[in-house]
Parts: sequence; C-alpha cells; structure tokens
Amino acid sequence: MATSSSASPGAHGGQATRRDFLFVATAGLGAVAAGAVVWPLIDNLNPSADVLALSSIEEDLSKIAEGQSITVKWRGKPVFIRHRTEKEIKEAEEVPMSELRDPQTDDQRVKEGHKQWLVMVGVCTHLGCIPLGEQGDYDGWFCPCHGSHYDSAGRIRKGPAPLNLAIPDYQFLSDTKIKIG
Ligand code: FES
Repeated sequence: MATSSSASPGAHGGQATRRDFLFVATAGLGAVAAGAVVWPLIDNLNPSADVLALSSIEEDLSKIAEGQSITVKWRGKPVFIRHRTEKEIKEAEEVPMSELRDPQTDDQRVKEGHKQWLVMVGVCTHLGCIPLGEQGDYDGWFCPCHGSHYDSAGRIRKGPAPLNLAIPDYQFLSDTKIKIG
C-alpha cells in the first residue's frame, strides 16, 4: 500500500517540479488565451478619430480684452481663459503662502512671460459645479453650490473646496495663441 510520504513537503522533488511545471504551463496558456480576448477589447477602447481631434484645442487670445474671460469646452469640461488686469495679478502675487489652503504661487499657475493669462479647468474642486467668474470675496470666482471662493489666480480661499482650480496642460504657440491638451 502506498504510504503518504510522497505527499509530504520536501520529500517529493520530482513530483513537485512536474506539478510546478504543469501549473506554469497552464498559467501560460491562460495568459495567452486571456491575451487573445483582451486585445480586441483594448483595441476597441482606443479613442476614435473625432475624439482624438478634441483631445487638444487651439484658442486665439487676441479677441479677449483685458478684464474679460471666455469659457471654452475641452474634453467635455469648461476651461476658463481670463485676461487678468494688473490689479488682479498684483493681488494674486501679494497673497502670503500661509493664507492658502492649497499653497501655490501665482507664478506656478501661469506661464512665464504671460502672467496676464490665466487658464483653468472651470470645475469646482468640491463637488464639481462650475464656479461663476468675477464674483466672491477675492476678486476671482465663486461657486454658489456650497460657497467656495477662489482668488484672482483661481486658488481656493474660503468655503469647502479643498484644492485650487486645476490648470490644464497647455502651451503658448505664439503670444496670442494657446494649445490646450
Ligand atoms: S461644488 Fe463648489 S462649493 Fe460645492
């Protein structure tokens, strides 16, 4: 009658090796099979040409006078582009970091040499409402949903929102043209 010694750990090197091999081989086949199924799914998830076309947008800034803002749609979200006044820039630059909940200097929120232009995703960082411009206690934006106030650099100053309005990836193509995304 067979003993149970062959099943005890450490006493069945050959069997263990074969079992390990079978396990690895099976896992390998599983991976191949899974790969065959997953690939078409991934392929289907690739963005279509029209979605790719919207992944970046170009905006002409020459039509936005000082003190004015426009809102453009990018990847389904509003993006605020504001041509800030000297006063707004000065106010933003003079705020001590110690007063900020999400400390960022004004310089960190604009592009060098273009600090009159503020480009931000216009979605409140509390629960996602769209804040109103030129409102609130800090010469910036106000979200009436639950009372978040953002300053003239779009930084959160009062209310429940935890973070500054987000800055999207963008670059200046010329002094009057930006590409967002
Ligand atoms: S969503 Fe803006 S304050 Fe709540």
